[in-house]
Amino acid sequence: MDDKAEPKMRASDVSVFYGDKKAIDDVSIDIPTKFVTAFIGPSGCGKSTFLRTLNRMNDTIPSARVEGQIELDGEDIYSSGMDVVQLRARVGMVFQKPNPFPKSIYENIAYGPKIHGLAESKGELDEIVERSLQRAGLWNEVKDRLGESGTALSGGQQQRLCIARAIAVDPEVILMDEPASALDPIATAKIEELIDDLAGRYAIVIVTHSMQQAARVSQRTAFFHLGKMVEYGPTDQIFTNPLEERTKDYITGRYG
Ligand SMILES: Nc1ncnc2c1ncn2[C@@H]1O[C@H](COP(=O)(O)OP(=O)(O)O)[C@@H](O)[C@H]1O
Ligand SMILES: [Mg+2]
Repeated sequence: MDDKAEPKMRASDVSVFYGDKKAIDDVSIDIPTKFVTAFIGPSGCGKSTFLRTLNRMNDTIPSARVEGQIELDGEDIYSSGMDVVQLRARVGMVFQKPNPFPKSIYENIAYGPKIHGLAESKGELDEIVERSLQRAGLWNEVKDRLGESGTALSGGQQQRLCIARAIAVDPEVILMDEPASALDPIATAKIEELIDDLAGRYAIVIVTHSMQQAARVSQRTAFFHLGKMVEYGPTDQIFTNPLEERTKDYITGRYG
C-alpha cells in the first residue's frame, strides 16, 4: 500500500443521522485508488449507511442527514454544484440483491452510456456493451442471447450483469454492498475473482459480513462497530495483528 498516493476519496468527520438517531459517528477515512477496501463489522453497525454516503445514495432516504465532508479527487461531493447523476456514474454501486432492469441484457448495459452520451453511434454502443460484459466476466455466457431479459439470468449472472452495468459508464469507484451474500459458493467465487480483476482499474469498496471474504479480496480493511470506525489498516494487519481490543474481539468471533 502506497500511503503517499493521493486518495481517490476522502471522508472527513462524517456523521449520519436518521431523524434524531446517529447511525455513523465521526468517521474519517481515505479510500485509495486501485485497491479493494473492505468494510466489516457486526450487523447494524453502519456499514451500508457509510457506504451510501460515498455516492450520496442516502439522499434518497428522506430521514437521512449527512454531516462532514466527502471528497472525490479533492472535490466536495456534497457541494451544491455537484451533479448527483454524474456522481453516481463516477461512483457506481452494486447492491446485495442483484437488481437488473426488466429489460434485455443489452439494454441493461446500454442504458447508462446512452443517457450519459458516451456513444455516438450504434457501433460504439455495441462496443461498450461488449467490453463491459467482457470485463464483468459475463460476455461468453450471454453473447448469443443479448436480447433476452436480464432478469432471466441466474443470480450470479445477474450480479455480474449489474457490475457490467456499473462499469459501462466508466466509473472511478465501485461500491459493493454485500454483493455475494445472496449467491451460492460457486457464484460467490466468481464475483470474488471478478473483484480481483477489477481492482487494478478502479477503487473498489466492498461491504461484507464475511471476514474470510474480506481477507480474500481486500488490501485494506475498516472495522466498524456501533457507528464508529474502530480501526482501519492493511487487511493482513487487521486480521493478524489488530491494534484495538474491539477489533480483536470481532475477528476472533467473540461477537457477531
Ligand atoms: N432507512 C433507515 N431509516 C432508519 N434507520 C436506518 C435506516 N437504515 C439503517 N438504519 C439504522 O442505522 C443503523 C445502521 O444500519 P446499516 O447501515 O444498515 O448497518 P449495516 O449495514 O452495518 O448492517 C442501524 O441501527 C439501522 O437500523
Ligand atoms: Mg448493510
